Amino acid sequence: MKGVILAGGLGKRLYPLTKITNKHLLPIYNKPMIYYPIEALIDAGIEDIMIVTGGNFAGDFLQLLGNGREFGLKDLHYTYQEGEGGIADALSLAEHFVEEDRCIVILGDNIFEKSIRSYVERYKRQKDGAKIIIKEVPDPQRFGVPVIQGDKIVAIEEKPKQPKSPYSVTGIYMYDRQIWEIIHTLVPSQRNELEITDVNNAYIGKNMLTYDILDGWWTDAGTFESLVHAQQLVAQKDHASRLKNQ
Ligand code: G1P
Repeated sequence: MKGVILAGGLGKRLYPLTKITNKHLLPIYNKPMIYYPIEALIDAGIEDIMIVTGGNFAGDFLQLLGNGREFGLKDLHYTYQEGEGGIADALSLAEHFVEEDRCIVILGDNIFEKSIRSYVERYKRQKDGAKIIIKEVPDPQRFGVPVIQGDKIVAIEEKPKQPKSPYSVTGIYMYDRQIWEIIHTLVPSQRNELEITDVNNAYIGKNMLTYDILDGWWTDAGTFESLVHAQQLVAQKDHASRLKNQ
């Protein structure tokens, strides 16, 4: 299974911080943001990783991460997204990297408290289709929100004004090779992007989307509020683990 980290975009919600660097290179406590998804993938046993970046500071990723040896990787793969076509557009650039394999996609500004290994293991046992991970949050209207009937997700609504469940779709997605033909059928949304929510709805339409409920905290870090929140959560986790190891 291949790993794809999406770290493009202009990070406009964080201006002026992102005028001089890429959002995913900003610090979260004691590490640049991009370290967290890389470490999450490696911890889940994924060592073939591509980073999709974009914008004006793409070269800084190379300077920071090099060939990935610091993380114990043999190498790291990079590609560049022209413009701001959205998450599914960024993912489409990884098609020739993933090829016939399956992939786990992680949004570069998503941070998870606990290991994601068990979800990946469960997906590996799934015959085909896709898997998403959802989490109960106080502000679902900021995210993709699943509509749940019984124990099934029957649709996902992107940033609904009136969320139909208290859950958010987190930024970890697992796909089989049908993903590429699905992406090719997408049309841009109102915000003129190819939406990952449309990809997931296509899998729902085929009755091929499973989900797990995330254990532990999760946050994105793409707004000032969530950036500060992410820093606090990671700092608390670090302090707690240092106390435990004393
Ligand atoms: C994106 C997705 C959304 C998902 C969120 C997770 O939102 O479109 O469905 O819940 O990531 O971080 P965006 O960051 O593009 O607003």
